[in-house]
Amino acid sequence: MLNILTNPNPILRQKSETIKDVNSAEIQALIPEMTETMLEKDGVGLAAPQIGKNIRLIVIRYKDDNIAMINPKIINKSLFKEWDEEGCLSFPHLFGDVKRYKKITVTYLDPSGKEHKLSGEGFLARVIQHEVDHLEGILFVDKARNLHKLEPDND
Ligand code: NI
Repeated sequence: MLNILTNPNPILRQKSETIKDVNSAEIQALIPEMTETMLEKDGVGLAAPQIGKNIRLIVIRYKDDNIAMINPKIINKSLFKEWDEEGCLSFPHLFGDVKRYKKITVTYLDPSGKEHKLSGEGFLARVIQHEVDHLEGILFVDKARNLHKLEPDND
């Protein structure tokens, strides 16, 4: 499992670079490792800066699937936004409400280099926006209100 960087770490605040070679050994190895790490940590998404790489790669959990998105770009946003609660693996036990677009359309490359266009709403749209923010060095606490710590039960 990969080590997840937590706040404050300057890597989390850097803008990530576009991936030029999808087929590189590094990228091809990183995708399953990031997916496994996300699942083991019980996350719904993970962005490459969180494991120390400032490159534009995210993995998200969607229903029973895991989707790796290389160079994701949000090309369309709904008129309306909505508030809902978020957390982040880089801020253990911290939660807060964030206002996000209700629907978005994202383009990305899959691990084979094929281009996709995906429209999502609600929770899926929220996760994608959260992870794409990571690639810009933007963290959910920057946008959140009602931030609160929820320590796990030890009993
Ligand atoms: Ni996060």
